[in-house]
Amino acid sequence: MPVKKILITGAGGQVGLETVRRAQAYGFTPIAFNRADLDITDAVKAARTIKDIAPAALINCAAYTHVDKAENDADAAFEANALGPKNLARACQALDIPLLHISTDYVFDGCASGLYLETDQVSPINIYGSTKLAGEHAIIQNCDKYIILRTSWVYGVTGENFIKTMLAIGQGNGHARVVADQFGSPTFAGDIAETLLKITKSYLSRKEAPNGIYHYTGAGITSWYGFAKVVFKELEAHSNIQVELKAITTKDRPTPAQRPAHSGLDTSKTAADFNIYPKDWQQSVARATREILKQVL
Ligand SMILES: NC(=O)c1ccc[n+]([C@@H]2O[C@H](COP(=O)([O-])OP(=O)(O)OC[C@H]3O[C@@H](n4cnc5c(N)ncnc54)[C@H](OP(=O)(O)O)[C@@H]3O)[C@@H](O)[C@H]2O)c1
Repeated sequence: MPVKKILITGAGGQVGLETVRRAQAYGFTPIAFNRADLDITDAVKAARTIKDIAPAALINCAAYTHVDKAENDADAAFEANALGPKNLARACQALDIPLLHISTDYVFDGCASGLYLETDQVSPINIYGSTKLAGEHAIIQNCDKYIILRTSWVYGVTGENFIKTMLAIGQGNGHARVVADQFGSPTFAGDIAETLLKITKSYLSRKEAPNGIYHYTGAGITSWYGFAKVVFKELEAHSNIQVELKAITTKDRPTPAQRPAHSGLDTSKTAADFNIYPKDWQQSVARATREILKQVL
């Protein structure tokens, strides 16, 4: 079978880098664009670039991801998270290729008692979530072939993320106060990349590919406090640093953006349609922390 080109936007981000790294293993030639190469808010350039490359599919990993900053920077967040996906959707529609896009658990308000299904009522409680939801709508309205993969609490070995923040705090003063009343699923960027590539491969090989919204996260639910505990266990096992970890509440640590209290996602539709299963969040966090520690210790 000839190798298929796939275009990856936002290739400099956590998920973007991992997607580029893994693409060849799935039989794809990745054509990777970071923000400097292709700003997805530039409709004309995006359309021209995508047409010239004529990929078999486009995976969009570009987004405005600063949740707190977005509260006072709504226009920039909207441009990257809603206008950008609209531009890509139109360009993909013109070429009749699928667009794979990543969305977030923050489209939900977090008031559910169980895991959220793809069909559950969305109701974002912060600007970031609203702009990501607008991006979902823009895609659904502007192209026929699309997969929107919602995920949560993303961390990679590269880039800024919760593990790195915790390690910096732990190594700094040996004390950490972490919120214990927000619950979700930590998800490794490499696992999201694998999921996107598996879905792309499956999509391109099917006559009747399923379009729509899918959920994928690490397996299991925890709090930010529980997440930090696993990170510090690894830090303590691989250094002589001991961290005193204290559980606090959201009220103890107000942030500019409100966050959903319970944003666990049900991933069974992704398993049923694509045979892709979530991986244990604790093992994945421990592994990534060890990788990061190799770089920083
Ligand atoms: N991080 C999370 O916890 C989380 C949770 C749920 C869902 N998600 C979603 O997962 C996806 C990937 O997230 P991530 O953690 O990999 O994010 P990330 O590390 O912040 O990467 C996003 C990348 O997009 C680039 N970008 C921003 N605006 C752009 C534009 N207008 N044109 C082209 N590139 C642009 C950024 O470049 P600059 O660095 O130059 O801005 C960055 O390299 C996003 O859709 C995000 O909304 C993330």
